[in-house]
Amino acid sequence: MRHTIGVSCKWTTVFALLSSLLLLVTPAVAVKEHDFKKCHQSGFCQRNRAYADAAEAQSSTWASPYNIIHDSISFDNGQLKATILKTINPNGDTERFPLTISFHKSGTARVGVDEEKRQNKDITLRHDSQARKERYNEAGSWVLVGGVELDPEARLSHQDESQVNVNYGPDSNHEAVVRLSPFEVDFRRDGASQVKFNDRGLFNMEHWRQKVDNPEPKEGDDDQSTWWDEKFGGNTDTKPRGPESVALDISFPGYEHVYGIPEHTGSLSLKQTRGGEGNHEDPYRLFNSDVFEYVLDSPMTLYGAIPFMQAHRKGSTVGVFWLNAAETWIDIIKSKDSTNPLSLGKGKTSTHTHWMSESGILDVFVFLGPTPRDLTMQYGELTGYTAMPQEFAVAYHQCRWNYISDDDVKDVDRRFDKFKIPYDVIWLDLEYTDDRKYFTWQPDMFADPISMGEQLASHGRNLVVLIDPHIKKVDGWAPSKELIAQKLAVNNKDNEMYEGWCWPGASNWIDCFNPKAIEWWKTLFQYDSFKGTMENTFIWNDMNEPSVFNGPEASMPRDNMHFGGWEHRDIHNLNGLTFHNATFQGMLSRKKGELRRPFILTRSFYSGSQRLGAMWTGDNQAEWGHLEASLPMVLNQGIAGFPFAGADVGGFFGNPEKDLLTRWYQTGIFYPFFRAHAHIDSRRREPYLLGEPYTEIVTQAIRLRYALLPAWYTAFYQANVDGSPIVRPMFWTHPDEEAGFAIDDQLFVGSTGLLAKPIVQQGKESTDIWIPDDEVYYDYFSYEVKKTQKGKHLTVAAPLDSIPLLMRGGHVIPRRDIPRRSAAMMRFDDYTLVATVSKAGTAEGELYVDDGDSFDYEHGQYIHRTFALQDGAFTSIDAEGRDTKAIKAGTWLQQMENVKVDKIVIVGAPASWDSAKALVQSEGESWTTSMQYHKADNGRAAFVTIGRVGARIGHDFTVKPNL
Ligand SMILES: *[C@@H]1O[C@H](CO)[C@@H](O)[C@H](O)[C@H]1NC(C)=O
Repeated sequence: MRHTIGVSCKWTTVFALLSSLLLLVTPAVAVKEHDFKKCHQSGFCQRNRAYADAAEAQSSTWASPYNIIHDSISFDNGQLKATILKTINPNGDTERFPLTISFHKSGTARVGVDEEKRQNKDITLRHDSQARKERYNEAGSWVLVGGVELDPEARLSHQDESQVNVNYGPDSNHEAVVRLSPFEVDFRRDGASQVKFNDRGLFNMEHWRQKVDNPEPKEGDDDQSTWWDEKFGGNTDTKPRGPESVALDISFPGYEHVYGIPEHTGSLSLKQTRGGEGNHEDPYRLFNSDVFEYVLDSPMTLYGAIPFMQAHRKGSTVGVFWLNAAETWIDIIKSKDSTNPLSLGKGKTSTHTHWMSESGILDVFVFLGPTPRDLTMQYGELTGYTAMPQEFAVAYHQCRWNYISDDDVKDVDRRFDKFKIPYDVIWLDLEYTDDRKYFTWQPDMFADPISMGEQLASHGRNLVVLIDPHIKKVDGWAPSKELIAQKLAVNNKDNEMYEGWCWPGASNWIDCFNPKAIEWWKTLFQYDSFKGTMENTFIWNDMNEPSVFNGPEASMPRDNMHFGGWEHRDIHNLNGLTFHNATFQGMLSRKKGELRRPFILTRSFYSGSQRLGAMWTGDNQAEWGHLEASLPMVLNQGIAGFPFAGADVGGFFGNPEKDLLTRWYQTGIFYPFFRAHAHIDSRRREPYLLGEPYTEIVTQAIRLRYALLPAWYTAFYQANVDGSPIVRPMFWTHPDEEAGFAIDDQLFVGSTGLLAKPIVQQGKESTDIWIPDDEVYYDYFSYEVKKTQKGKHLTVAAPLDSIPLLMRGGHVIPRRDIPRRSAAMMRFDDYTLVATVSKAGTAEGELYVDDGDSFDYEHGQYIHRTFALQDGAFTSIDAEGRDTKAIKAGTWLQQMENVKVDKIVIVGAPASWDSAKALVQSEGESWTTSMQYHKADNGRAAFVTIGRVGARIGHDFTVKPNL
């Protein structure tokens, strides 16, 4: 959600009036860009950019004022420690900054710098602030879950007056070269520079200084205009600790592309940000905000932040993770290396980045790859992998603001069945509550939530309800009373409970940095506390940036105070994650002994949120441009470690034309999180309302998603174990194909070899799919062998009723072919396995399945198969070489004993498969079954279908032609 118009303090009072007015006039509103800061309106961004400009202008004489004291260096057990001195004025006065560089067993390195004076609390705060005096240093405790074990094998390989070398990493092929004067670090792999810190001398930690009132500015004095109290949009930030930003330039020599740092709109390959044709003017900003009706192709901040960047070139991927929860801006420029006179300016392109955060310590992880997979894996080791989802969560979600009553929900539910359209979850937005008090039901419209929940449950369906972090401030309502009495809310700068405006009017905000607040929050979700909820009720956390209608930039004042004495500025980007986590803990403890996976959607997020649920891209619009923008956004989430992502199908604001809505469904089936949603002022648009032929086309698209749920679930499993994106961009799957590095409108689904390029432009009836390799490609639907060539585009016809979808040769795709009402209803259906024969005549694939609900998979209760087609046989073995018979089967695994492989299709089958019967061997038994061989015909591949295979999905089996 969603504002319709700008922020207003009297929101609740004018709300009803406005929404009725808006029904009469089409709102011509766009994002109020001026409600959000540009770099020049953010003091520290402006100062650090100016610093960069000064360095650039004096490039030959510029010297970074940070130098390591030679005698301070020590190295022990994988950790280098030293002190950096910063010369702060022409008199040569200095400040001290302790440096720690840690080398981890996982192959990552971590550079940390703090400020001694603040560390020692040797400073005074302004305005009698009770804030902590240190730089914020606790982000890691919320974000990191592993990967920081020190590497005792890392060794100091060289040390002299000017530099120190440390060798570390796999086979010791990583090296950190630390220069002393000025302080610089050059991270090398196999002897070559990959990532450079402070190479351009932009490292800057604003040391603490006392405010001197009425200083008489002297010639040459720093411009202090943005050091102290800062105003924006009528709000004043009191900045009790004064200027304290931290900035660093990070260069990637020889790397032309950088990706990551969601959440923004725009291309997957990030643009330059310091102007020039086609470039952005402003740095990419990370400051979680409720940006409604956001603009496209913009470095402007959105709802979530993941400060993880990957640099990519042919043969190598490296990256950095900037662990800082404060407002952060990132400038990107690229340069052509023309040092070689023979290259005539055609040298390699390098990318130079400049990271700037408002507060906190410097804490940066460095990844040296060399593959994209190494990066996503190592980043996941640090911040956690995607949680195994609820099975239903991978299916289709139906949402709008709002289904107005329990009867409305029941009616929509019935109509989906009438039209035989599968769906798994129906959602309730804000209006289900009683007067916007969460954990309550609007008594007239939702008089009987249990009967609603039961009707849904009867078809294996679920309900998601909205719970936000603002708690209506109202007498006589227990949650408000408890929050206030137990002091569990965020405070203002004077350490009194902060009050702001949001959906319910006057509200307080739960402070989930406080462990006691989490303990209290958990109790609210218990079935006997949140009455009307059932086992099939799940949660949606919205507005957790946090969104505050009357706050600066629609959020909280930065000088607000959180648990532990930290200012809001320090933890802003973590706020959404901690609320999401508290809700996650609540869902885990709804009932004693109930151990089920929570499903919680969040709007705001940070690194680590992937452990807790799904995200969506917020309040988009029912316009073609927003459909197009959704693909790079979802792909970016995937490579940035939070792949359970989707955009509102149909577009949140506005009324999509029928062709747009149809195309959006055909695209949405390729989002890991597949949900339709709509604004309260938009017309109803459930797929059965579209009318023919649209309803039928959309139904077919949704059914395609359902048929492929086994493949999707397996892709989620892969994300869960090693951080692989669920939908994968070309550079990730084909890291050596340069022409694919900027492609962000087509994707592979997991490791299935399914290559999709949804149509995202109006009136387009064909599309050009870029082919990344020399493999054979088949049309998904017709089995036509495509005439492809590596690196060339393939034109595919795509009228409105068709989806451009190819199958790459060499894969096995697991499916369930009988359409049913919901994923749960398909749980014990038999499988279809589609093998696509590669040029080499083989295929391989994977299936992972568990009960989709509990944590029993942690105790071996799952089926994990590897399928292979080679040497004239199709085989299935346990993917982990387990002795599956030795596993004590729980209820679900016992039920799966009856689940079989119904059909095997081999697309591109060689003539050796031309037989009327197939021989199936499994568990010491063998039998024959019928098989049809279809000769290649008019461009269509030869294929076989083997019917009623009958082998149990969880058991080893072999199928071959019975010649
Ligand atoms: C999540 O909540 C648990 C339980 O209260 C707490 O121990 C943990 O630190 C929290 N983690 C995050 C990432 O918020």
